[in-house]
Formats: sequence, structure tokens, C-alpha cells
Amino acid sequence: MTSLNIPENVRNTELIDWVTKAVEMCRPDSVYWCDGSDAEYDRLCEEMVASGTFIRLNPEKRPNSFLARSHPSDVARVEDRTYICSISKGDAGPTNNWMAPKEMKTILTSKFSGAMRGRTMYVIPFCMGPIGSPISQFGVQITDSPYVVVNMKIMTRMGNSALDALGDKDFVHCLHSVGMPLAEGQADVSWPCSPDPKDKYIVHFPEERAIVSYGSGYGGNALLGKKCLALRIASTIGRDEGWLAEHMLIVGVESPDGKKDYVCAAFPSACGKTNFAMLIPPKAFHDEGWKVTTVGDDIAWIKPDETGRLRAINPENGFFGVAPGTNYKTNPNAMDSILANTIFTNVALTDDNDVWWEGMDGDAPAHAVDWQGNDWTPDAGRVAAHANARFTAPITQCPVVDEHFNSPEGVPVSAFIFGGRRNSVVPLVLQSFNWAFGVYMAATMGSEMTAAAFGNIGEVRRDPFAMLPFAGYHMGDYFSHWLDFGRSIPEPPRIFSVNWFRKNEEGKFAWPGYGDNMRILKWVVERARGTSKGVETPLGWQPCYEHIDWRGLEFTKEQFEQVMDLDRDIWLKEIAMHDDLFFKLYDRLPKEMTFIRELLVSNLWRQHDLGLATPRPEGLEETTKAVAK
Ligand code: OXD
Ligand code: MN
Repeated sequence: MTSLNIPENVRNTELIDWVTKAVEMCRPDSVYWCDGSDAEYDRLCEEMVASGTFIRLNPEKRPNSFLARSHPSDVARVEDRTYICSISKGDAGPTNNWMAPKEMKTILTSKFSGAMRGRTMYVIPFCMGPIGSPISQFGVQITDSPYVVVNMKIMTRMGNSALDALGDKDFVHCLHSVGMPLAEGQADVSWPCSPDPKDKYIVHFPEERAIVSYGSGYGGNALLGKKCLALRIASTIGRDEGWLAEHMLIVGVESPDGKKDYVCAAFPSACGKTNFAMLIPPKAFHDEGWKVTTVGDDIAWIKPDETGRLRAINPENGFFGVAPGTNYKTNPNAMDSILANTIFTNVALTDDNDVWWEGMDGDAPAHAVDWQGNDWTPDAGRVAAHANARFTAPITQCPVVDEHFNSPEGVPVSAFIFGGRRNSVVPLVLQSFNWAFGVYMAATMGSEMTAAAFGNIGEVRRDPFAMLPFAGYHMGDYFSHWLDFGRSIPEPPRIFSVNWFRKNEEGKFAWPGYGDNMRILKWVVERARGTSKGVETPLGWQPCYEHIDWRGLEFTKEQFEQVMDLDRDIWLKEIAMHDDLFFKLYDRLPKEMTFIRELLVSNLWRQHDLGLATPRPEGLEETTKAVAK
């Protein structure tokens, strides 16, 4: 059998046993244990340049950076091939694919038998979260992809530091193969994978805290610390242990008096989450001393400390961001984070060996090589970069990385924000009456799939808590966990919903977004501090025009009213539509959801019966403060 090559510092017996069994099953040519050093990273990158997987970019323009082009069948997460194999089907719930663990293991054993022939098996010990943090978790990934190793080096704390901290403790077992063994003498390809879409498996065994991934080398399918461990498996660990693993960015907001609050925000994929995580405040705010800093752009793990105060960490160590659309106007901090030491996947290559994508600053290059390696010119009639092209970059390269990003104790959480993508109906900002109303708001968030005529509701894809593809268990139980969690802490943070995407009669976005979202973030933080005003509406608390800081932006009261409008009749329809989701989750839907639904309906009717305008007048503000807790 292939030598295990176990280094002296590997003493975790479970790890040695597991790797031994994996070698017997996968039959790699050799085994390599990753130490996480820069020298190792450089060597693997060099090897991938030699094998054709990587292209070294222009060292003057993009030092120490590389471009990889994936196989055209392997460009994104594959939700239809993603499984939660809990023992009971009911525990996975109706929003996840499920198969009995035994049945799935039979399939996977046959897939993995000899799957690494002709390849090296890499063993990657890693830690999600700062090493030494009580909130962090350990994993070990076995993979036959050097591309995965170097991406994991950027995205996690990986190698000897993680191995030493792991000691003989338990870890999440993450087994991965690209699913393309090489026969004797068979030449490799630059992006090995299993090209048949039905021959990919992204599988989670929540009871065993194990992940098995076969057939894909891309992103969340293959970098198993990210969506698989940090969301799907961690959400089940959090349910069992009383904490939260969320699809949330974490930002620090500092006011001119030096006070700082941290806010966690959930947005579905493709809602500008990375931009919000690195927001640049408008000039007037900046000049006055407002600062926004980045703790994380995608995932937050949140636990109460010994006083019951919530503390959050970003389990990741880098950004795996979408390149197209990123430019110096939409996200200058992201652009500055990827100037060097970055891996690009599926972007275009310019004639001077730099990168380009649709939506980058300036004109398109007269000629480039597209993400599939073909010549491209602006009139080619196709995109040069794949829409899901990515950059992998160390978070420490972000100019506004928060000083506490690496703090083991995490950062205190003052507020939660939930944002969907709605053309209509959902107002720019709304503060929920209390935790349970906030859970309802987050449970029913969504994105409009079809264009809504003005004043109507299009078809909405519900994405509760932006966790639909990422909850490792039944979504109804997930809501219950959030409700219980709020009851278990003395001062739950305030919960807000936002919608940057409301459109006007002309079908244009009615809110400028980007840096101007700071105006709303400021209101949110000041509400959490108890220093900004709001008025009660049937659905929650809202700012009036004069409660928002408009310095440097021309945005009229009429425009504001348009983005804040809560139309009773439309909302009655919207709430009726929440039932589609609730019926689906009916067997495990917490009864609070139905009660709150009824309360919201009765609030809307009460407002109508009293003949009150929306929002309700300022005078009602104080009377409802007590329930805002
Ligand atoms: C991501 C996603 O890539 O949410 O972060 O899809
Ligand atoms: Mn995400």
C-alpha cells in the first residue's frame, strides 16, 4: 500500500485511522500532509503552473497571483446534488435533498474506490475561526486537488498551527475527490472533475459531523470549510449546543465619538453582500469620523459569552468573492484586497497577463482570452468572464479589515439585519417589534423572481434567513432554534429588515444603494443604541424622513416615502403568500409563526379601521418602546 508518510507532529489517533482507511479506499499514488507554510503554498502553485492548472499573472501588475480556468461543467455550487443525509428524513426537512445514510454510503464507497489513482492525496488540517477561540471548530480535509489546498490556505487557518491546536480532539471529517482517477500513463487535464452533472455528490452526515464531496473541484463544492462545514454542519452543531451558524457578514460601525457597534447581516447570494461588508461611508460621514470595518463577508458564528452577550466570529480567513460587477465604484476595498496574492478562477486574461471581467472599471480590453481559454473581443457576443468567476484573497489584505477580526473572543453583536431582493412591497428599512417578530421577518424574506408590475407582487422565492441552501436540518426546527435562542439571552440584539432593491414606476431602482446604505446602517446602529427615533407602523418601527441623515445626497421626502411605503392591501396579499412556505414546513413550523402572522394581519386592519396614515404619528413612539425588547 501507498506509504502514509505520517509526520512526527501528527498524533491524533482518529486522524491517523481515518487517513489510513481513506488511503485503502482511494488508492492515491502518494500522501502529503499539509503544513500550511508559505513555502508549501509557493511550491504547489509552481507545480500547478507547470501542469497547466494555473497561469501566473503579470508579476508587476498582480504579484504572486494566478488564474485558473475550470471545466465548463464545473462552475458553481450544485444544489441539486447537495444532500443532507441525517438518519431521519424528517430531520433534513422538505427544503433539503435527503437519502438514507446507509444507501448514500454504498454509492460513495463505490465512487471513492480507487478515485485518487494516479494522484496525490493531500491531508489538510484546518481551523474555522481564530485559533484558540472557544467559538472555532476544527476540520480535516482529505483531497486530491492541489487547487483546493492553496485555496484552503487562503480561506482557513490551515496546516501545523491548526494541527497543534487540534491535539487529540474531535474534528469534522471532510473527504473530497475531484472524481477523475488517472489510469497508468493517462495524461492529466488542467481542471479534473467528473463532467457528468449527475455524477457529483456534496453530502453531509450531520450526526457524524462528516462531509463527503465527489466530482467537483469548484468553490463551495470543494472548499469544504466554507458552506459545507461552516454553514450546513455548523448549523446542526449550533442547534445541538445552543449557538448560531449564519450566512451573515459582520461589520463594525464606529461613530465620531469612538463608540463602535458590530452588526451581522444576512443577504441571499447576489444581493451585494460583499459590497455591504466593505461599505465606504459617504463623504460627509467619512469626514466627520464615521468608519465601517470588515470582520467577515459571508459567514458568522455567534455564541453568547458568560454574561449572555452575543459574540460573533468570522470562521473564514479570506474572501471567495464574485468578480463580475466588482469595480472601484461598487467596491474599492474589494478591488484593493485583490491587488496581489490572489487566485482568480474563470475570469478573462488580458494581453498583458492581467485579469478582466464584465463590470470592471474602464473600457473592455480590445482583446482578451475568455474563461474557457478562447480569444475574445468586445464584439464576440458572449461574456469574457463567467458570471460566477471568483477571486480568493486573504482577508488581511482588505484595507478596512477590523482590528478584532482575529480576536478569539469575537466581537459583540448589537443588531441583526436581514435583506432580500424585492422590487416592491418590502420597505427600505423596518425594525421588528421584538425578537420573535424579527424571526418571522427573517423567515419570510425572499427575492422576486419575476418582474412585478408597479404595485404588484411578482413571483417570490423565499429564502429564509438567506439559509435555504445552507441549513443542515429542517427549516422549521431552524426557526424554533432561533426563537429559543432569543429567549435564552438577557438582551437580544434588535432585528431589522432592509431592501435596497425597490423599483419605481419607471422600473428603475429607487434607492441609490452602495455607500448610501450607510445612511440606513447609521439609523440601525443608533436604534440599537437607543439614540435615534422611529415611528410605529403595523409591521414594525420605521424612520421618518427627518430621522435619516441625508447630508450629501439629494433624496426627497417623496422619494423616501416611495421606498418606505407599506401598502395595506399589498401587504395582506404578501402575508397570505407566506403560507406557501409555512405549509411546506407545516409539520415542524413553530406556532409562533402562525400567531405573528395573525398579529400582523390584525395590525394592518386596525390601522385601516382607525383611519391612520402610514407610518403612524410620532407621538406613539414612546408607548411601544417597552415591547421593542
Ligand atoms: C456564496 C453564496 O458564494 O452564497 O457565498 O452563494
Ligand atoms: Mn454566501
